[in-house]
Amino acid sequence: MHYGQNERVDFMKNLQDLQGKTAFITGAASGIGLGIAKVCAKYGTNVIIADSRQDGIDDAMQFFKENNYPAHGIKLDVTDREAYEKAADEAERVFGNIHLLINNAGIGARRSLLYEATFSDWDYIVGVNVTGVFNGIKIIVPRMLRHGESGHIVTTSSTGGASAVNNVGLYCMSKFAVSGLTETLAADLQGTNLGASVFLPGPINSSLTVTTYQNRPEHLKDESFLADKPPTGSHAEFIDIFMDPIEGGERLLRGVIRGDLFIWTHKEFERGIKARCDAIIRAFPDEPVNEARAEALKAFNTLTYNPIYDAQTTPGAPDWD
Ligand code: NAI
Repeated sequence: MHYGQNERVDFMKNLQDLQGKTAFITGAASGIGLGIAKVCAKYGTNVIIADSRQDGIDDAMQFFKENNYPAHGIKLDVTDREAYEKAADEAERVFGNIHLLINNAGIGARRSLLYEATFSDWDYIVGVNVTGVFNGIKIIVPRMLRHGESGHIVTTSSTGGASAVNNVGLYCMSKFAVSGLTETLAADLQGTNLGASVFLPGPINSSLTVTTYQNRPEHLKDESFLADKPPTGSHAEFIDIFMDPIEGGERLLRGVIRGDLFIWTHKEFERGIKARCDAIIRAFPDEPVNEARAEALKAFNTLTYNPIYDAQTTPGAPDWD
């Protein structure tokens, strides 16, 4: 079934519709990805736990085994295209069609001023956080389109993917990149029965500092990675304040149900994001539109106006069951 241009894709109307679907979740051995996987499993979805760390997958799988949830772990480095293709084949062999792709695997950045960041850090973060997401889109979305059942793609960006954060420029850059990538994907998927959302979490309890260190190739490990936060604990001092990954997963899935293009987790960031959006609009010159040019630009279709933004809902207060 195909939907018309600008028509909302109702991949699911409520969480119960997740029953029997299959979710391919990268970076699912820990933190946010694991939270999303647990919520999906609770509502009857088959989950693929794709992660670069086999020990993390083994630990995560315990939960699914204990609860008799259908889950399957696949060791996958999202930067490895050949392995990604094989992982997609394996997922389809085990559970059949993939309906939900969650591009969530990611790494943090060493804290530094942008102009003091290293070329090797740039290459590494672009590889995992940006190319890894594109690999998922390129390898799995055509499969989702081919099987013809409705589905959805979510990319985990960050609040740092919508507003600058000092001292983590490479991370922000990577998250801005995947926000743009996923917004364009949502636009390109119009007229199909797939949709796409950008997930923009604030602080959520996870192991990002530790796994970023563990995942770094040996030749990058000797650098003083995250020097001000040694990789000995995972934001342990903030454990009571940061959001639980299960709540993050619930918020993500409810956003998918609403058909939201942007899914936020933390109201605390609204002021900062508004400041950026306002600044962008304020920066336009105070002069009349050149009508002839405006007319000519219509030929460029969505260059001057993309209707995907019109469909964004106002979620209101969370509607927990
Ligand atoms: P986490 O460390 O608990 O989970 C990330 C997982 O991704 C790990 O299991 C790790 O092994 C895996 N991973 C890393 N590189 C990989 C690769 N090349 N291939 C496959 N798997 C790989 O951390 P968290 O925080 O749950 O991170 C998930 C996503 O959320 C990341 O994209 C992160 O940037 C993003 N994020 C996290 C926030 C937070 O406060 N925890 C806030 C905003 C965004």
